[in-house]
Amino acid sequence: AYDAGPYVPRGAGLDALREAAHGCRGCPLHRDATQSVFGSGDASARLVLVGEQPGDQEDRKGLPFVGPAGGVLMRAVDEAGIDPTETYVTNAVKHFKFEPAPRGKRRIHKTPGLREIGACKPWLVAELQLIDPEVVVALGATAGKALYGSSFRVSQQRGVALPMPALDGGAAGEGVLVATIHPSAVLRADDADRAAMYAGLVADLRVAARLLR
Ligand code: URA
Ligand code: SF4
Repeated sequence: AYDAGPYVPRGAGLDALREAAHGCRGCPLHRDATQSVFGSGDASARLVLVGEQPGDQEDRKGLPFVGPAGGVLMRAVDEAGIDPTETYVTNAVKHFKFEPAPRGKRRIHKTPGLREIGACKPWLVAELQLIDPEVVVALGATAGKALYGSSFRVSQQRGVALPMPALDGGAAGEGVLVATIHPSAVLRADDADRAAMYAGLVADLRVAARLLR
């Protein structure tokens, strides 16, 4: 089965984990991607934002949320009263899954499947256990499924405090989780819907901000 577990060094800090993730062969996604994209930000953050997987620009630069979706996300985080520099940002899946594109063209993202999400989860668990945030924000269905399982539905569970799920089969965590839409859904929306979708993202992030102790 696909599994990053054997590649995750025990007792490692975030920097050592990030380094080790470059060598992960836990699923086939490492083959076509440029590099693994680990989480980055404040290692003692009280709020962690979990996206889906790196996009085209993240894959090239090696950092999460540095492309268009990241722009939307950081603007929304700021508008929700959260200092972006006090957050840690990561993804459910650490390698970019994409459709090959003609030379020079932006590669088209493909949604990771449950097997890839499950394979990559040990990295996310290791990050969350080290940072131990008060609030985790799941951005979209992939992050929600990574943390809650395949039955997770953003539309039904967004914008409210959910109990932190058990991360590694042990006891449930102490923090809370808030789910919302993925910022790229705002970018993909029809012109008529875009403002409302963005406002919904900000409103859900405000829920998360209020839950900080
Ligand atoms: N979308 C994500 O989910 N994560 C990124 O890092 C960039 C785009
Ligand atoms: Fe490992 Fe995750 Fe990359 Fe798959 S996507 S190779 S599990 S780091």
